[in-house]
Amino acid sequence: MKTKTVPVIAVDGPSGTGKGTVAARVAQVLNFHLLDSGVLYRLLGIAVLKAGIGLDNGQAVAGLAKGLNISFSSAKLGTVLLDGEDVSLQIRTEEGSNMASRVGAIPEARSALLERQLDFRKPPGLVADGRDMGTVVFRDAVLKIFLTASLEERAQRRYKQLIDKGIDAKMSILLQELSERDARDSERKASPMIPAADAFVLDTTDLAESEVASQVMQLVRNAL
Ligand code: DC
Repeated sequence: MKTKTVPVIAVDGPSGTGKGTVAARVAQVLNFHLLDSGVLYRLLGIAVLKAGIGLDNGQAVAGLAKGLNISFSSAKLGTVLLDGEDVSLQIRTEEGSNMASRVGAIPEARSALLERQLDFRKPPGLVADGRDMGTVVFRDAVLKIFLTASLEERAQRRYKQLIDKGIDAKMSILLQELSERDARDSERKASPMIPAADAFVLDTTDLAESEVASQVMQLVRNAL
C-alpha cells in the first residue's frame, strides 16, 4: 500500500481539550497507529535544555531535532526514552510543556521534525494528534477534528490531573501558563494552531470524556 493511500485521522487543538485521550481511543478501536506529535516537541524541548542551546539559535535547535535519539519502551506503555534515558515524567512537567511550545515556534525545528512525523503513516492507518496535523503535516487526512474548550475548563482539568498525581499546583499559575502557550502556539508564523478549513470543530467544555469519544467515533464512522 502506498503511504499516501494510508488513511490519517487528524486530531488538533490546544492542551486540555482531551485530544490525546480521544486520539488514543480512536487508534485503539480502529487498530491504527498513533502519533502524539506533542511528544516530539516535548522531547526536543528537553534536549535543548540538556544541550544548553539558546532558543534564538534556530539552526542548532534544528540540528538537534534531526539527530534526536528517541525510543518508546515496549515494556511499559507511555515510556519515552531520550538517548536511552527515561524522560516520560520530565516531558510532562510544566517546564516540559513550556519548552515544547517554545521550540514549536521555531520554523527550522518544525521542518526538522516533519519527516519523523510522516514516518508514522503506516498501514492500516494513523491517528495523529497535535496542533498542525490537519493544516500542514497531513493535509490529505480523511477526517480532521479540532477540539476546543474554554481556558478555565482546560486549566481546571490540568489542575485536577496534577493534584490526582500528588503534584502541587496553583490555578492562577496554570491559567497564566496555559494562556501564554495558547497565544504562542496560535500566533506563531510557522504552522500556527488553527482549525483546518475542512475540520469538524468540537467544543468539549461541557462534555464528559465519554461524550467526546462517542461524538468523535460517529465522525470516524462517517468518514471511513
Ligand atoms: O500536545 P501537547 O500539549 O503535548 O504539545 C505541547 C506543545 O508542543 C504545544 O504547546 C506546542 C507544541 N506542538 C506543536 O507546536 N505542534 C504540534 N503538532 C504538537 C505540539
